[in-house]
Amino acid sequence: MTNPDNPQNTKNYSEIGALPHGRPLQTEFNDGRDYPRLGSFSFRRGTLTDNQAALWDEHWPRLGKVLSDEHIDLDTWFGRRAPNGTIVEIGSGTGTSTAAMAPLEKDTNIVAVELYKAGHAKLLGSIVRDGLDNVRLIRGDGVEVLQRMFAPNSLTGVRIFFPDPWPKARHHKRRIIQSGTLHLIAERVKPGGILHVATDHAEYAEWIDELVEVEPQLEYLGWPEDTSDIPVLLDRQIITKFEGKGLDKNHVIKEYLWRKK
Ligand SMILES: C[S@@+](CC[C@H](N)C(=O)[O-])C[C@H]1O[C@@H](n2cnc3c(N)ncnc32)[C@H](O)[C@@H]1O
Repeated sequence: MTNPDNPQNTKNYSEIGALPHGRPLQTEFNDGRDYPRLGSFSFRRGTLTDNQAALWDEHWPRLGKVLSDEHIDLDTWFGRRAPNGTIVEIGSGTGTSTAAMAPLEKDTNIVAVELYKAGHAKLLGSIVRDGLDNVRLIRGDGVEVLQRMFAPNSLTGVRIFFPDPWPKARHHKRRIIQSGTLHLIAERVKPGGILHVATDHAEYAEWIDELVEVEPQLEYLGWPEDTSDIPVLLDRQIITKFEGKGLDKNHVIKEYLWRKK
């Protein structure tokens, strides 16, 4: 059988941290809200270098989990009770922001959720190289991870930075920001906890603008001038290739904050 993570079955064939074969877990919420539907879209792109594969096999068992129906015991997984609780970042990509922010929020547990193995492999490299002990990784669909692996009212915050914009109308249903996702996030975050979203896609920003008030448990804060009462780190630490230029109006970065009531 070929491994979809490694179709050539090269010498680095490894099932460690692999997504299970067959249909991905997908909850039928049936609550009248909209949830992203990824369909058969594959996030399996990218292969690991030999070094990354070796690092993955060595460190994934301690630092990573694959989507499952396990309710995570955060204190056990992180080996401590974090003074500032736990933040989940959905769609961490290569983890550039994650690894840059984590040293500035050592009292917070950070869980980076991503489907893309090569992205997580890069973040795993940063974690090991920089000795970051407050970051863990989950491989899977962020909606299912929130639904299945975290208890209600268990998180200090959720971050979604530059979610895939899915610009074609027929793919809009794949967008992660939807009424159902906002509801699920509100259920998982503690009162006072924060949802922070950033996008550089003007049309996705319009889509989010339509949804900012849709979830009654979330108070929409916009992007306030004074963020001193926001209890989580907001500075993404990364200047993207668009930031700083500020000229191209299609690539203005728009940031959103909500607080759980
Ligand atoms: C445009 S990238 C942004 C990555 C990163 N946040 C950044 O700012 O560079 C979006 C990422 O979200 C991931 N992604 C998309 N849908 C996801 C989902 N439902 N669950 C977890 N990750 C997802 C993609 O694999 C991709 O790596």
